[in-house]
Amino acid sequence: MYNLLQRLSGVMSFAVSVLMALMVLIAVTTPLIPSSPTHSVALHSVKTTAGRQMDPFDRTSRAAEHARLTFDVDADLSSMFNWNTKMLFAYIAAEYSAPGFETNKVVVWDRIIRNRRQAKLRLRRHHNKYALRNFALTFEGVEAANLTLYINPVPYLGLMYDRPMYSIPLTLPRAPAGAAKAAS
Ligand SMILES: *[C@@H]1O[C@H](CO)[C@@H](O)[C@H](O)[C@H]1NC(C)=O
Repeated sequence: MYNLLQRLSGVMSFAVSVLMALMVLIAVTTPLIPSSPTHSVALHSVKTTAGRQMDPFDRTSRAAEHARLTFDVDADLSSMFNWNTKMLFAYIAAEYSAPGFETNKVVVWDRIIRNRRQAKLRLRRHHNKYALRNFALTFEGVEAANLTLYINPVPYLGLMYDRPMYSIPLTLPRAPAGAAKAAS
């Protein structure tokens, strides 16, 4: 004979198993919910300067070449919000290969989007929020550079992953000779 406590324990363990299965199901199926975001990035200019102290806490900053991007972003990501979306993390990264370092990814801009209303982006002649410089201080030998808009949908339940949305080629020029000399 089962007593009440044993029955209760059985019911509870069954409920927990069902809950676990449900959570896994939600986590797995959320990325499959269809969405139709629109997105584009347009680059106006890339200007490289050297010899300026861009970061007061970095002693190499004065010697490094820094690229200043001017870009537009047009996106409507509101359809990416579903019942399991806490927020969207949008960022733009410059990716390139350089001598000695095959894969480089520098985040130049980001934004946290908390609701559908904030999901319509219309940036005009925006500049990078974060410094774009190469580890080797110069852009010499930098190849195959791209500027890519990534969206990371942050779910209430489930895994986070980066979705590359839009990519355009990017050229990182060297700083004018005069500026480079001033740096040394
Ligand atoms: C940039 O994009 C091009 C074309 O899609 C690709 O061949 C190249 O590998 C990309 N570069 C990097 C560093 O990802």
